[in-house]
Amino acid sequence: MTKPDSPSTGTTQRLVDLDLAHCWHPFTPQALWGKEAEILMIESGSGVWLTDTLRRRYIDGNSSIWVNIHGHSHPHIVRAIQQQAATICHSSYLGFAHPLASLLAERLVSLFPGRPLSRVFFSDDGSTAIETALKMAFQSCSQTPGKEKRRHFIAFSNCYHGDTMGAASLGGVSTFFSRFRGFGMEVRHVRDMEDLRSLPAETIESTAGIVIEPIIQGVNRMTPWRAGLLRELRDFCTHHDIFLICDEVMTGFGRTGKMFACMHEGVTPDFLCCAKGLTSGYTPLAACLTTEKIYNSFLGAYSDNKSFYYGHSFTAHPLGCAAALASLDVFEQEHVLEKLPPKIDLMRSLAESLHKRNLHVAATRSIGLITGIDISHADGSPYAQDDRAGERACIAMRKHGLLTRPVTHDTIVLMPPLCISEHELRLAFDAIDSGIRDALQGELE
Ligand SMILES: Cc1ncc(COP(=O)(O)O)c(C=O)c1O
Repeated sequence: MTKPDSPSTGTTQRLVDLDLAHCWHPFTPQALWGKEAEILMIESGSGVWLTDTLRRRYIDGNSSIWVNIHGHSHPHIVRAIQQQAATICHSSYLGFAHPLASLLAERLVSLFPGRPLSRVFFSDDGSTAIETALKMAFQSCSQTPGKEKRRHFIAFSNCYHGDTMGAASLGGVSTFFSRFRGFGMEVRHVRDMEDLRSLPAETIESTAGIVIEPIIQGVNRMTPWRAGLLRELRDFCTHHDIFLICDEVMTGFGRTGKMFACMHEGVTPDFLCCAKGLTSGYTPLAACLTTEKIYNSFLGAYSDNKSFYYGHSFTAHPLGCAAALASLDVFEQEHVLEKLPPKIDLMRSLAESLHKRNLHVAATRSIGLITGIDISHADGSPYAQDDRAGERACIAMRKHGLLTRPVTHDTIVLMPPLCISEHELRLAFDAIDSGIRDALQGELE
């Protein structure tokens, strides 16, 4: 870390004062904001490094909330956005098309051999990609003879699929969603395949779709599914004529070591939702991919009123499409997926060694370039939610040059951009180790 640059301290303080006076941050207890930890003003980024207005540098340990793939300020992506901005920033996708959306749709469809997901519906972020899939599944059933009574959804306990009302009604984490129950979709939650198979026939027969975060549940402490579950779920859905909706908002674009997580089990869903990493996190853009069969259920005479009634002002935003196309170029030009296996192995071994050497690390779980680190008291007993141990440890990591956040109160996430080097990965684990020790050591010992 470089030393704070004192001449800009005043400017930073002014910006912080403005934030405190006028801004409102997501998922944030605003009464405590700025009181327990310094407010960092992130000003610039390069590769995996972020720099704040006081010129301090940090490794972006959670890819700026799980979005960044190729690192910040990648010249190819920046150039593509600049070129598009100089051409046109936005045009309506309602009633018109534009070149980059056509090209991007074709590139996305081609990511699956044989192109089983041949149609792309663009939106703005992960939540709206999920809303798209839910509404499409629902409306498709309502206008397909024999499927009209399929109006409900099944999701998994502890799942997270976003915060708009429809997506939130799927959510299985009660802290986030319990106060919004009763709005949105009618959803049944199941723990696993056994639970799913034990549902009454009338529930199965009235289900339009089953939604899953494939391979790993993110907000649920970065918990992997058991191997084979996704394939079994695909077979179950096919058998019962239920749509399988894979939420690849977090897992998409290489995060788990393959382009999409469902590819680990050779599964093609009926709907695949992606967002965050689609543009390498450079601009908001999301996509819901689906099959020609589902698309066809929306075709008919004008008077049949089968149009998909959904969309937003910024659907298929040209700057987002430019960023996404450039990001896909980078995957090819820099052989990003091919370079991942040694980094994935290193991440797993660094996580294991952290577990061995730090008494406050109770367990670690890694998939691809994602690691969840569970912390506990040194004697192994769990922290209470109000201890906010994960938060305190992450704040302490800042001075060791790493920014990340916990999911839940006691699981810390390390999910850096895929371009991270082996050296930077080691630095990140050292910072996690030191931050945990600074914040938690000596408490109960
Ligand atoms: C699996 C999953 N689905 C959906 C979302 C919602 O995405 P967004 O925050 O872009 O609306 C997230 C966000 O973290 C996510 O992890």
